[in-house]
Amino acid sequence: MKQSNRGEGIAKVAKGPLGNRTRVTKADTAQKALKLKRLKALLNSRDDALQKQGSSKRAGVGGITVESSQQREKLAPASESASTQMSALQRKMKQKLKGARFRWINETMYTTTGEKSFEMVQKDPGIFEEYHQGFAAQVDKWPINPLDVFIEGLRGRAHLVVADMGCGEARLAAAVGKQHTIHSFDLVAHNKRITACNIANVPLCNDSVDLVVFCLALMGTDFIVFVREANRILRQNGELKIAEVVSRISDMSAFVEALEEQGFELICKDTTNKMFVLLELKKTGPCPTSFSTRPDLLKPCLYKRR
Ligand SMILES: C[S@@+](CC[C@H](N)C(=O)[O-])C[C@H]1O[C@@H](n2cnc3c(N)ncnc32)[C@H](O)[C@@H]1O
Repeated sequence: MKQSNRGEGIAKVAKGPLGNRTRVTKADTAQKALKLKRLKALLNSRDDALQKQGSSKRAGVGGITVESSQQREKLAPASESASTQMSALQRKMKQKLKGARFRWINETMYTTTGEKSFEMVQKDPGIFEEYHQGFAAQVDKWPINPLDVFIEGLRGRAHLVVADMGCGEARLAAAVGKQHTIHSFDLVAHNKRITACNIANVPLCNDSVDLVVFCLALMGTDFIVFVREANRILRQNGELKIAEVVSRISDMSAFVEALEEQGFELICKDTTNKMFVLLELKKTGPCPTSFSTRPDLLKPCLYKRR
């Protein structure tokens, strides 16, 4: 039969379940069109509802819902910046906490005895890490590090036995340990070069060392006891090298005098740097049996909140 009008008469010839050709009537087509119209209306009304919720928009006709790129553009920057802001805030808070913790450890070590500091870090060795991270951040800001001055001073010299008291991470031994014998002491053995101890009592024999270094390490209120320990291990005429923060010393003469009282003689005082003073002393004899600790001679070196 000739199909004059596809939309009206016999619209289509479809295969039946048994493969027979089946006639599709005008009424069938109208019913299908109606069904399709209803389905489209249903889908459109669902889109409207979803758009109102602001959640997603239907793409295509399969009932698949996806976010439109416009929606993503609108939403992404807001949510990304929120998460960036959160992590920036979290980072700032974390830095502040780290700084506060460093300042607390630092202050504790400057206001207590070596023995108490030793007990504190032995109980919680993580304290050493926290302290040294904070200390390294401070050192980064200094125009010079006095430890570098000591390292350079040792480079050109004949073999020496050296005790680095309060060595930190034992950078002195790492730098000149092939040339010299360096004994490195600190509260925690951060690496294999270091022996953990209180520098008031180091495991070295009397008169066994040529040179003792205290680079910013006279931290305890009983620092005089550390100096006496240096005297014990130094041979006669052995060298004592001290670097200290200038602002810790309110009376330089009284400080030097107190050192000399422990069996030393001042050889050189370098005050050319505004931040640090470098002292060189020579052992002239054993230290006296009676002494006072004189914590008043060295103020704690407290770092500012940033
Ligand atoms: C300011 S840091 C200097 C570290 C190193 N000398 C430097 O210049 O890089 C002081 C060091 O002395 C150590 N220290 C302070 N009191 C100590 C004590 N009683 N016995 C052993 N080490 C001590 C601290 O643990 C710290 O590592």
